[in-house]
Amino acid sequence: MISSNSRLASEAGVEILKKGGNAVDAAVATGFAMAVTFPQAGNIGGGGFMVIRMADGRSGAMDYREIAPLAATRNMYVDAHGKLTDRSTKGALAVGVPGAVAGMAAALQKYGTMSLHDVMQPAIELADSGFLVDSALSRAVAAGRSLISPYEGASVFLPNGQPIAPGTRLVQPQLARTLRAIADKGPDAFYHGWIADSLVAEMHRDHGIITTADLAKYQAIWRDPIKGTYRGDTIYSMPPSSSGGVIAVEMLNIFETWPTLPPFGSTAYVHDVAEVFRRAFIDRNTELGDPAFVKDPVDRLTSKAYARTLRDSILPDKASKTPAFAESGKEPMHTTHYSVVDSAGDAVSTTTTLNSLFGSGNYVGGAGFFLNDEMDDFASQPGSPNQFGLVQGEANAIAPGKRMLSAMTPSIVVDQNGKALLVVGAAGGPTIITATVQIILNVIDHQMSLADAMSAPRLHDQAWPDRLEYERGGLTQPVIDSLQSMGYALFPVRHLANANAVMRVAGGWQGMVEPRSTGGAVGY
Ligand code: DON
Repeated sequence: MISSNSRLASEAGVEILKKGGNAVDAAVATGFAMAVTFPQAGNIGGGGFMVIRMADGRSGAMDYREIAPLAATRNMYVDAHGKLTDRSTKGALAVGVPGAVAGMAAALQKYGTMSLHDVMQPAIELADSGFLVDSALSRAVAAGRSLISPYEGASVFLPNGQPIAPGTRLVQPQLARTLRAIADKGPDAFYHGWIADSLVAEMHRDHGIITTADLAKYQAIWRDPIKGTYRGDTIYSMPPSSSGGVIAVEMLNIFETWPTLPPFGSTAYVHDVAEVFRRAFIDRNTELGDPAFVKDPVDRLTSKAYARTLRDSILPDKASKTPAFAESGKEPMHTTHYSVVDSAGDAVSTTTTLNSLFGSGNYVGGAGFFLNDEMDDFASQPGSPNQFGLVQGEANAIAPGKRMLSAMTPSIVVDQNGKALLVVGAAGGPTIITATVQIILNVIDHQMSLADAMSAPRLHDQAWPDRLEYERGGLTQPVIDSLQSMGYALFPVRHLANANAVMRVAGGWQGMVEPRSTGGAVGY
C-alpha cells in the first residue's frame, strides 16, 4: 500500500511491489516517479529524509538533506543595510546542494532487493511517454508562475506563457534522459559529468554559487532513527538534521505524562495541545541544528523526565506567553510525504522537498528538473523569521557544508507486538511536526479510524509568533470563547499541513491521502 500526493507515483510503486519488490524498492520507485509527476515538490533537485523499519526489526534513517555550498557565508542573505533579502527563496543563490539522488540510491542499496535500473523504469516511462496534467498540477504552475517564468522551466510548464492546461500530455524528454543516465550509471551520473555541469551552468546564468566541487563532495548520511515510546507503542522518526523526530517525541512524552487526554475538540484538549506544541517549538528553534556543526541535546529533549518538567510548567486555566526570542507565516507548498508498506510488514516513511513550490524557480536546462530553495531553512539572520515565520537561532546559522534544520517528520509507529501500525508524515513547514503528532494522538488516544484521524481539524502553535492556529470551522464557538478568555490569540487558517498515511487495520492495510489535498493511495 502506498499513499502519496500523486496517484501515478503511487501506482509506480505498486508496479514494483507486484514485481516482487519490497517497501524500499517501491518507495524509491515512487520517489523518482514523483520527480516526474509532481514537479512542484517531488524532485531530484532537492532533498529529504527516509525512515525505514523492516519487519525483521532492522531500522535506518537516511538523511539526504541539502547542504550549504562551500562558498556560502553566514550573512549571504543580508544586504548592506542589515536587511534580509529574498535571495534565500528565489533564484540560484537559494539553492542547497541536492541530496535526493544520493539518498534514494543509498536506501535502495542497503534495504532494497531490486536494482536502481529496475525501480526507475516506471519514472522513466512517465517522463518519456508523458502523462495527462491534472488540475492540481496546472493550478500549482499558475501559483508558481512568476517564480518559474524567468527560467528554462517556463518552456515546459508555461507553454505560450500560460500554465500548462489540465488534460495536456506532459512529456519531459530532458528529464527522461537524466533519469536514464542515473538508472544506468548510478548516483555518480548526477554528481559528476554532464548533469552536474548543466546544474553548474544554471548557477552561472543566475549568480548561483554551487560548483562541481560541491556536487562531487555531497554525501547522504545513514543515521539511527530517533526512537521514542508512547503509551506502549514505539515511534521511529527522523533525527537531526531534521528537528522532526526529536520534537515529535518530546511532544508525545509530554502528552504521555497525562494518563488520558481530555476529549477531542474540548477547551481542555486544545489548551494542552497548544501548550505542549509551544514548549517543544521553543526548544526546536533555539537548540537544534546540523549535528556535524552543533551539539544537539537529543537525549535531554527526548527524555521522559524533561517532559515532566515541561508538563509541570503548564498552567491549568491560562495560556502561557512565549518569551521574547532569545538565544541560548504561511508558505506556498511544497514538500511531499509518502508512506509505503509491503505485505511482509516492511515500512518506509519519506518526506522530500524543494522547500517552496517549485523551489527556487531555477530549472536545469538540458537535464529537465527544478532546483530547491532550501537555504531559506537556515536562520539567515538569527532572530528574524524565515518564510514560515520560524524564528531560529545560532545553532541553525549558515555555514559552508552545513545542513539546514528541517521540520520534516517521516515516522513509523510500531505496536506492542513489534509490527508496523502507522506510517505517517506530512508537508507544510513547521506544521509538519504538529500535524504528524496530532494524527498519532487521534489514532492512539482518541481511537479514531485513519480516515477520521487524518480529517479531524488540526491545530498549530510554533511559539513564535505567539498565536494558536486552528482550521476554520474546527473549533466550536464556546471553545473559541473559552480559549480567548484564557489568553489565547487565535488565528484561523484554511488548512494545516498535507499528510499521507498508511495504517494496519483488520484484514490488511488502509492508505489515506490527505483529505485537504490531492493524490492517491494505491494497494493490491
Ligand atoms: O525541511 C523543512 O522543514 C521545510 N523545507 C519543509 C517545507 C515544506 O513543508 C513546504 N511545504 N509544504
